[in-house]
Amino acid sequence: RTRIRLAVIEGDGIGKEVVPQGLRALRAALEPAGVSVETTDFDLGAGRWHRTGETLTEDDMQRLAEHDAILLGAVGDPEVPSGVLERGLLLKLRFGFDHYVNLRPTRLVPGVASPLADPGEVDFLVVREGTEGPYVGNGGSMRTGTELEVATEVSLNTAVGVDRVVRYAFEQAQRRRRRLTLVHKHNVLVHAGKLWSRVVDQVGREFPEVTVDYAHIDAATIYLVNDPGRFDVIVTDNLFGDILTDLAAAIGGGIGLAASGNINPTGEFPSMFEPVHGSAPDIAGQGIADPTATVSSVALLLDHLGHEQAAATVRAAVEADLAARGELGTRSTTEIGDALVAAISGH
Ligand code: NAD
Ligand code: IPM
Ligand code: MN
Repeated sequence: RTRIRLAVIEGDGIGKEVVPQGLRALRAALEPAGVSVETTDFDLGAGRWHRTGETLTEDDMQRLAEHDAILLGAVGDPEVPSGVLERGLLLKLRFGFDHYVNLRPTRLVPGVASPLADPGEVDFLVVREGTEGPYVGNGGSMRTGTELEVATEVSLNTAVGVDRVVRYAFEQAQRRRRRLTLVHKHNVLVHAGKLWSRVVDQVGREFPEVTVDYAHIDAATIYLVNDPGRFDVIVTDNLFGDILTDLAAAIGGGIGLAASGNINPTGEFPSMFEPVHGSAPDIAGQGIADPTATVSSVALLLDHLGHEQAAATVRAAVEADLAARGELGTRSTTEIGDALVAAISGH
């Protein structure tokens, strides 16, 4: 590819601040390879919703589908009812483009402070299911607002949906340290738990070199804090994966560093890359959000599009910057972006 058609959704809050830094890093990484980046900006998020009442139209979806990949900042705004943008925009993209793998790596780079006193080696990959579970919107409420209200959110788990994400996780484990942990709660969520466990057993037979183990989600949070080195690849359900990866981000040096890819492995639809964090209304507009998570998401994007060399350059720049942080004091979003772009360009 000598040209990348990239759809850009800055979204809300700090999304508007970190995405421009991600784009600079992307361009700097691809320039030496002679690859051009053609961007299309999509006006999606709180502003559009306030003006037009629209979150994401069919026309938006069709235009987005014409791109090689999507870079997203974050969505969500205190002035918009909770869920409107999260469900109507972000989840609609993940479901509509069949992003069944939500890839969330954590690697504690030497020199970065973790809240853990003695973290040891932290280098694991959470493969979070992205299109099923309690996120599907299978629920409702009855007698809403009364004392007799009943509300349900039913988790959907299909054999096909579990099989495809588990298979992806095994493939990743095979290429890494060959250890896969299923995280679930099969002692309570017995129906979904049985399905996940059975699929892991079955697919595992095709990967005899991968050691498989299991942890309940509650215990997994203990191990992640007390002994993160035991994890290589974690495969888990959509909601467990959401919670576990915020914890993972904290362990890995902070939410401002955590990258993610919403992958459609078949290539039928564009995959979408975004920081794990949200729109951070508490710091939005101050120019102090860390753009590193977005820049690292750009590295995942580059890997996905087959530009491994450029991805490695971005990763090396991030690691060098992180290692030097102790001496640098507090920097603004743009200052961190400047440093990363300079490191990527080699000066
Ligand atoms: P959040 O991730 O936005 O913020 C949590 C905390 O982390 C805040 O204290 C924030 O200041 C800090 N933080 C986040 N990103 C940072 C960065 N790059 N640099 C420095 N500090 C950073 O989570 P929240 O407060 O629970 O949610 C805020 C809004 O974002 C909500 O509307 C939520 O629904 C939405 N959200 C969106 C996404 C997404 O678009 N992918 C993800 C999570 C939350
Ligand atoms: C994330 C976010 C989203 C999720 C929300 C905003 C829908 O928390 O990307 O981790 O729960 O997946
Ligand atoms: Mn989350």
